[in-house]
Amino acid sequence: MDTVVSGIRSTGNLHLGNYFGMVKNAVRMQHENNCYFFIADYHSLTTHPDPKSLHANTGKVLAEYMACGIDPESTTLFIQSDVPEVCELYLLLNMHAYKGELERTASFKEKIRKHPENINAGLLTYPVLMAADIIIHRANKVPVGKDQEQHLEITRRYARRFNQMYKVKYFPEPDAYNFGSELIKIPGLDGSGKMGKSEGNGIYLFDEEKVIRKKVMSAVTDSGPSEPNQKPSDAVANLFSIMEILSDSSTLEFFKEQHARCEIRYGDLKKQLAEDILKVTLPIRERTEEILADRAYMGKVAAMGAEKARESAAKTVKEVREIMGFSTFK
Ligand code: TRP
Repeated sequence: MDTVVSGIRSTGNLHLGNYFGMVKNAVRMQHENNCYFFIADYHSLTTHPDPKSLHANTGKVLAEYMACGIDPESTTLFIQSDVPEVCELYLLLNMHAYKGELERTASFKEKIRKHPENINAGLLTYPVLMAADIIIHRANKVPVGKDQEQHLEITRRYARRFNQMYKVKYFPEPDAYNFGSELIKIPGLDGSGKMGKSEGNGIYLFDEEKVIRKKVMSAVTDSGPSEPNQKPSDAVANLFSIMEILSDSSTLEFFKEQHARCEIRYGDLKKQLAEDILKVTLPIRERTEEILADRAYMGKVAAMGAEKARESAAKTVKEVREIMGFSTFK
């Protein structure tokens, strides 16, 4: 049986990228593996959230995880900050994490570019905390989207470095995981880049029907192909790749053929895409509302998850301390 760990930052509602990159895989993996899924609320602190909204944001993701089908009975579903053991492992791993390699991380470079006013040490060491999240349960598989691939490479490097440093075979080297061959990347609807919370181009599982229709209908396209079999522009190729993930393959083929014949009507493509998105999101939205209304249940789930996750985390930290030479006077 594999041990599986994954999480999502609690910086807002989940979007389609989170759903197809992580949550859907998590749901499929939960019955055959030893799974730990969590809400990365410590990670959300890099952008200094208002204390008044911190807890509510955590609750949203917890409810959405369950609404998507993560079952708190078969997995360990928990809130990162309920397991402070991860902070100790983070501190210990930081001693073997080098400034240069962290500065070269793509996500860090992007954050510097976007938020030059808030380049804090938490942001620089984000991948160290993420590695701690994963290896604290000695996981081998991590269901994530394409955007997390480099973070997983770093995690593997730290696991390997620890083993080499202390001449042990203690941490497995975990792999990014997706059912199907490739890691998922859902592009934004604005013609470029990935769908992301910080990109402001997301379609959220919790969006109302009319909001989703409006977002999809205003997706960027182009003025249409001018000759047969023309390569679609980036914006249109993005819509095709969202369709590839969400819609039937016959639907995608139909619109691709129409494009090749210069007969495509982007309005029809978008209408169909909106329908296919709503089929996924509307039931999740409804279920999320039900769960959010049941605070006692959410409290019970969080407490149960915290207990199970702490047990596993505490065991690792204890063993790591021994390996590193911490001891008591006897
Ligand atoms: N970096 C992930 C994101 O932005 C969140 C995350 C934190 C995570 N710790 C993790 C993902 C451990 C997988 C495993 O969504």
